Amino acid sequence: MASSTRPLLVDVHTHIYPPTYMDLLRRREQIPKVVKNNEGNEMVVLLKEEEGKGANSKGRPVGPQYYDREEKIKFMDAHGIDVSVVSLANPWLDFLEAAEAVSAARELNADLQSYCSTYSPPSSSRNSFTPQTQKRLFAFGSLPLVPGIKTEEVLEAVRQVKELSYLRGIVMGTKGVGKGLDDPAMEPIYAAIAEAGLVVFVHPHYGIENAFGEQDNGHALALGLGFPFETTIAIARLILSGVLDRHPTLKLLLAHSAGALPALSSRLSSCIVHDPHVKDRLQNDFRYYLGQLWYDAVTYGPEELALVERVVSRANNYEGTDDQLAFVDRVNGRADLLAPEGVFPGVERIMFGTDHPFFPPLEGSPDPSQQRWKSVDENLDAIAGVAGWGEGERRKVMGGNAVELFGLEI
Ligand code: URA
Ligand code: ZN
Repeated sequence: MASSTRPLLVDVHTHIYPPTYMDLLRRREQIPKVVKNNEGNEMVVLLKEEEGKGANSKGRPVGPQYYDREEKIKFMDAHGIDVSVVSLANPWLDFLEAAEAVSAARELNADLQSYCSTYSPPSSSRNSFTPQTQKRLFAFGSLPLVPGIKTEEVLEAVRQVKELSYLRGIVMGTKGVGKGLDDPAMEPIYAAIAEAGLVVFVHPHYGIENAFGEQDNGHALALGLGFPFETTIAIARLILSGVLDRHPTLKLLLAHSAGALPALSSRLSSCIVHDPHVKDRLQNDFRYYLGQLWYDAVTYGPEELALVERVVSRANNYEGTDDQLAFVDRVNGRADLLAPEGVFPGVERIMFGTDHPFFPPLEGSPDPSQQRWKSVDENLDAIAGVAGWGEGERRKVMGGNAVELFGLEI
């Protein structure tokens, strides 16, 4: 039976550049940097594709939506978003020297706590759906993850994030402390984050080489393919190095639904078990680990979202190694694909996100706070359109799972 209450909507993928970070980018001459274009508008130049000539060399417009909390709230109100778990946008602190990264992380985490904790809705708030008393902002903190950093300095930042009550996790790129997420130097960091119960939001920035062609495609391929493939590779490496065997309680939330990882997981599994060099590395089939991860629902399409959910739903069937896997009846099919009551366990692992303030509408409305964003609606429509999901599943993905994972006081 349909419930009359509106589902809580929680955005777990939404970024900011706090004012101090904007100032840092404005002072820089190398990417990442903020520059003014010929019309005097600020542009952020972030990606390696933005160096040199071509459409990308101009960067992307960066305005108050990145740094002004009121703009974030207006955006949330325009889309019915009750709660946002904000994160620093890429490239985080990756480009700083170790000493600078330590102080920047400390300052940024304190800023984020105040960004979230000092917000209270004005009594005249237009928003009629979110109760005035509800906390609406939480955040992922940042760590000084840069080459040359001392592990103890990173652990100190983990302790700081743990102590800041509105910070519920850590946003992290794919480089770790310079050598990727499968670097043994990350081990004590993973252990400390798992022990603290913080969620790691793994997000791409670097993309992959722009190979197999030379045409200028703006940002489309770098963002549409480079970003998700970066996440795919980084997480495949992390799993293959045994991180999830050694840290089974580590909570990883993957940007853009883990890119191509769900679609390629059986191929990867097969490549692993057919390779004498890696076949005995893991305690379980590769596919099992996809059930240990969390995913944003930033796929922009219901079929893609369904694929993520189905792959994650069957992950438990792959507990164990090749000869221990669940029985497959090749004539009658795989009856054990779902949990006993037909619940799709993967549903519990997926959470709504927007990627705000990236992907704004190209045609601006006179009052941006009134405008709905196509990029947001596509992701809401994807959740609404997954075949086989009912209201219960949609409520979990729209907000219920986030409340649980982040322990949000709603
Ligand atoms: N572009 C970026 O640089 N970062 C995002 O998170 C999304 C788009
Ligand atoms: Zn993002």
